[in-house]
Amino acid sequence: MKTKPNAGNKKNILCIGAGYVGGPTMAMIAAKCPDYRVTVVDINAQRIAAWNSEDLPIYEPGLDELVRTVRGRNLFFSTDIEGGIRDNDIIFVSVNTPTKTFGAGAGMAADLQYWEKTARQILENSVTNKIVIEKSTLPVKTALAMERILNSQPNGGAFDVLSNPEFLAEGSAIRDLENPDRVLIGARETERGRSARNSIVEIYSRWVPRDRIITTNIWSSELSKLVSNAFLAQRISSINAISALCEKTEADVAEVARAVGMDSRIGAKFLNASVGFGGSCFKKDILNLVYLCRFYGLDDVADYWESVVKINAYQQERFVMNMITSMFNTLAGKRICIFGFAFKANTGDTRESPAIFIAKRLLEEQAEVVISDPKALDNARIDLSGLAGVLDYREDPYEAAAGCHAIAVMTEWDIYRALDYERVYREMAKPAFIFDGRNILDHSECFRIGFNVYPIGKPPLTHFDS
Ligand SMILES: NC(=O)c1ccc[n+]([C@@H]2O[C@H](COP(=O)([O-])OP(=O)(O)OC[C@H]3O[C@@H](n4cnc5c(N)ncnc54)[C@H](O)[C@@H]3O)[C@@H](O)[C@H]2O)c1
Repeated sequence: MKTKPNAGNKKNILCIGAGYVGGPTMAMIAAKCPDYRVTVVDINAQRIAAWNSEDLPIYEPGLDELVRTVRGRNLFFSTDIEGGIRDNDIIFVSVNTPTKTFGAGAGMAADLQYWEKTARQILENSVTNKIVIEKSTLPVKTALAMERILNSQPNGGAFDVLSNPEFLAEGSAIRDLENPDRVLIGARETERGRSARNSIVEIYSRWVPRDRIITTNIWSSELSKLVSNAFLAQRISSINAISALCEKTEADVAEVARAVGMDSRIGAKFLNASVGFGGSCFKKDILNLVYLCRFYGLDDVADYWESVVKINAYQQERFVMNMITSMFNTLAGKRICIFGFAFKANTGDTRESPAIFIAKRLLEEQAEVVISDPKALDNARIDLSGLAGVLDYREDPYEAAAGCHAIAVMTEWDIYRALDYERVYREMAKPAFIFDGRNILDHSECFRIGFNVYPIGKPPLTHFDS
């Protein structure tokens, strides 16, 4: 696929990184700015081929339709990274920034190798002025490193580095991109920086109300993304910590969350107790924040944020221990069905999904594990490949649950709310258990049918004498 710009287009935009962020974000820009030419490049040729096919590499509600409207018109996917850099003067960088797994900062800091390679590639292939925009989530002050690399040898042009972190949530990415709470654009407070920032404001203002486009200094922008994810995850860990107390005291976490969330200073969102948060971002971004705090000598601040991740791990382990103790202290040889493997509903993404941890732990307990999910079975097979034990994958939830001793609900997919649980119950081994890790089922109805029901943060409903 060629990346040559069309002279008639008002702006030519490149995005490096065709992942969960790069693909949908650029498709939205192409849709809202039909006179711009938008090219998305990636080193992963298979991913690019999938973006150019009828079977897109990621599942998001509304994405297929959006891509079909703009692909080949003013949205192009290509592996020609060098050509893309040469031909475009506005370059979004949306490569992955996972947690470092080696050396200094292993397990905490961001692994910036993909990011730095991209910076060097931009430098090598640029002969004109470029605006380089950090779309990836990065530690505060990364733009400084980017500027230093880009300015390390003279070439034909000058570089302006901006920060424009992405706040979309997987599962509602298209809706979020179309109607964002805010768009954040950070720049150096210089004349050049402000002018570069204005050209990015111009793109978003095609469809985002101007008062929702916030401009800040570049460090505030970089830091705001980390802090935003830390606050979201902190709310989940806060209610999950309270769910443990509810289980000891016969309080009901949903009732507590409702009472707390109706305080307008607190708000009702992100107060659903669950088996824990997953996704590629929350844990990695908080650990990144923790690492930064430690780097700057702020150990108390680091400890505070690290506890959010610790509670998440605690909640997942607590879930498994609850299964073991409720099922007569042994899972060995029992067949357990996991409803949902994606880290949340409406995505096939399983990165850091609690279901991975739970499945591994159940296998360690020598349970037989059956995984069911409408969109994430391919990823589940990759995540669990090579593990010892009996593992089965069934998309159909009725087939998956048949013959099982227990169901563990891991993802809040609507299909699991709407199943015929009389039918599910009939086909299961008895006594049959449901552990609802998302609190989405009708617990009294499941109990009435005959299940022993264990929600999160609520008294269990069992048919056993206490
Ligand atoms: N996934 C989300 O919901 C989300 C939301 C907001 C922000 N973010 C952030 O956005 C960034 C990207 O996340 P993602 O989920 O899209 O990641 P991803 O892994 O889905 O996609 C990243 C892509 O970058 C490509 N890549 C890596 N190095 C490259 C290089 N040198 N040249 C060209 N391509 C290269 C990879 O092949 C991959 O396809 C991360 O920093 C993430 O923290 C993610």
